[in-house]
This record gives sequence, C-alpha cells and structure tokens, in this order.
Amino acid sequence: MSDSNPVFIPGPTNLPESVRRAIDLPTIDHRSPAFAEAMPKLFAGLRSIFATTSPHIFVFPSTGTGGWEATIANTLSQGDKVLACRHGVFSDKWIRMCEAFGLIVDVIECDWRGPADPALIEAALRADQNQSIKAVLATHNETATGVRSDLKAIREAIDRAGHNALFFVDGVSSIASMDFQMDAWGIDAAVTGSQKGFMMPAGLAIVAVSEKAIDAGKTATLPRFFFDFKQMGQMTHQGGFPYTPPMQLLAGLQHSIDLLLTEGLDAVFSRHFKMGEGVRQAVSAWNLSLCCEDLQYASDTVTTIMVPEGFNADRLVEHAYSRYGMSFGAGLGKLAGQAFRIGHLGMLSEAQALSGLAVIEMAMRDLDYPIVSGSGVAAAEEWYRSALNMDAVRPVITAATCEDVA
Ligand SMILES: Cc1ncc(COP(=O)(O)O)c(C=O)c1O
Repeated sequence: MSDSNPVFIPGPTNLPESVRRAIDLPTIDHRSPAFAEAMPKLFAGLRSIFATTSPHIFVFPSTGTGGWEATIANTLSQGDKVLACRHGVFSDKWIRMCEAFGLIVDVIECDWRGPADPALIEAALRADQNQSIKAVLATHNETATGVRSDLKAIREAIDRAGHNALFFVDGVSSIASMDFQMDAWGIDAAVTGSQKGFMMPAGLAIVAVSEKAIDAGKTATLPRFFFDFKQMGQMTHQGGFPYTPPMQLLAGLQHSIDLLLTEGLDAVFSRHFKMGEGVRQAVSAWNLSLCCEDLQYASDTVTTIMVPEGFNADRLVEHAYSRYGMSFGAGLGKLAGQAFRIGHLGMLSEAQALSGLAVIEMAMRDLDYPIVSGSGVAAAEEWYRSALNMDAVRPVITAATCEDVA
C-alpha cells in the first residue's frame, strides 16, 4: 500500500489527480489546427508565472538540465568566461556543464550553508575591468542545501559593478513555488523543469530569455541543434514544433498553469512558505539544525536537515523507505550522510505534511535519535493551525520564534 504515500523528495513532486487526468489523452495530431490554437494560451500563462513580458519563452522535451544546456548553447561561445558561485550540488553541476562546453568558469566558492554571495559577485565583476565575463550564473534555490539566494541583491550587485554581463538563473526548484520576478530582477535567462513547482512528471524544460540574451546569441558560436532557440521560437510562434512535441505533457502543463493562476501566484508562494515553516518548526522542536544557517534564506520548497554527530542520514532515509514506504531526499555531495531533505513543494496538504513528519520522526526514534516522541509533529500542528488564516507572503521568521514554539 505504500505507493499511495506521498513523496517527500524535492521533485518530482506529488501529482494532483487533475493533472494526471489532463495528461491522460488519446493521440492528438501535432500538425492539426487544434495544436496551433492551444499554444498562445500556454505561452501567455508561462509568461505570467515567470513574471516576464519577453516573447522568448521555450518549452523543450527535456528536463531542467537540458534547459541549462539550451541557455549556454544559444548565448555563448567556446572560451567565453562566466562567473558562478558554488554552494551546493546543483550550482556545481552547472559549473561542470559550462566547463564541458569549453567555457572558462570563474568560480566563487561559497559556504554550502549559505546563499550565493552578492558582495563577492560584485567584487569579481569590478575586478573584471575589460568586461570579459559574459554571464553571471545563479542557482536561485539550492535543492541540495535548502538555501535560497537573493536574486534581487545579485542583480543590484551586477548593476553596482557597472558590468554588462548577462544574468542566468536556475529556477528549477523555485519557479512556480517561490517569488520569482524575471523582469523586475533583470534576469536574462530563467530555467525550470516540469516536475517541481508545476506539479507535473519530468519531461519538459522551460526556458525564458531576454532580448539581450537573444541578441548575444546572434554572434555566439557554441553548437546547437535540438535546443536551438531560433528554430524552436519560429516554430512555436507559428503553432508548431521543430520535432514531435510531447502532446500529453503539454496538455498537463496547460492544466497546471490554470491551477496555479486560478489560485493566484501570491497565494501559491504563501502556501509554500506556510508549508515550509511547519517543517522548520518541527526541526526546531527536534533540536536538530537546518543546513541553512540564516533563516531569512531558508527555502520554502525543500528543507535540508543536519543529523547529529555519529548518525548516518543515508541510513535514516533508507529506513524510512524500507520500513514505512515513504521517500525523503538523501544528503547530496558534501552533505551525503550528514543531512537528509524533506521536499515540500507542489501539491501537498497540511495533513500530508504531518504524515511525513510523523514517519520521519518514527524512523529517527527507531534509530535512537535523541528526539522527543511527537515533538516535531506537535510543533508543526501548532504552526499549521495558526497559519491557516495568515495572509502574509513571507514574513521573516526569526530563530527566536522557532525556539518559542519549541
Ligand atoms: C536547483 C536544481 N537545478 C537543476 C536541477 C536539474 O534538473 P533536472 O533533474 O530536471 O535535469 C535540479 C534537479 O533537482 C535542481 O534541483
């Protein structure tokens, strides 16, 4: 029966029943007028979710990683320099992809328990007096560490340095769950995948780019074919696709956009904040630490929890799965064995969240973690009861508040 348990991995998320039904379609001819007619609405919805008016928005049959590759291949040339902070597994992977494409990456090593550092980005850009850095790469929400970076502050750092670099953002585990403002934050490329905030199966990479990024692509020479923005853009604006489109996934995506926009993006962000804060209250009651050291940067889509010295987080995740049939995220990279992750993005009710907290609590007790039985669930219950009528999008919750509740 465990296949009816929700998952607590940070994507792919749980699927709303209505999304599953929207995907369950017979074959539709992708060269029929019905397909062409459906596309403008899909792209308009995506624009609202990315908070952009850019006409350059692309949906590829791929995943978030393919979205990164599309961004790089369409805007840069071999030997170009880019600047990136490394503060978790996903920012590291993006750096390694750039290196594989023959780009030179100036890496700023940041603490994995904190965000990308705007001050260090500014200093590196100021030092680049001949403007050789072509792009600044930022991972909005490091899904490995549960730390959210401040994109507005990074944009301001780029502006203060008077630098003309493009600004590329990995929004894979933030877009459609946490506040994201492509135009207001001057983002030149924003990337996500279908299996996180959109509550869909994996299979689509969604990339929005600015006019400036499109212009950069006109002289950029990295090879591109499957991910060619030009080809994809021409075809999608005429209601076609340069190859066979995944029709059922596109139908599911339209439904998911409808769900998100009907709820309202502020309400979606607020719901994620409340869900995440309940998990943080539980962690505080267990007397465990978040990987994220400064709560103002705590992610509302995934919480990464450090286990006490002498305990192995991988064993905990394995035990929760084998004994109780529930999936949690393991610690990744440097955090392997030292941390586990609770994903709380996409479709998740308070009742489901409490079931996840109860299961991980049981698993910790089975393995003799020094926690008080029921303490995390009780703290989360109190929070969810009080948060029900709270309409703030993301009030800053202080450590003191967490301790009060504990
Ligand atoms: C922040 C972040 N970036 C990139 C990726 C890679 O995305 P995908 O697995 O869809 O290729 C992930 C996947 O979890 C992620 O969380």
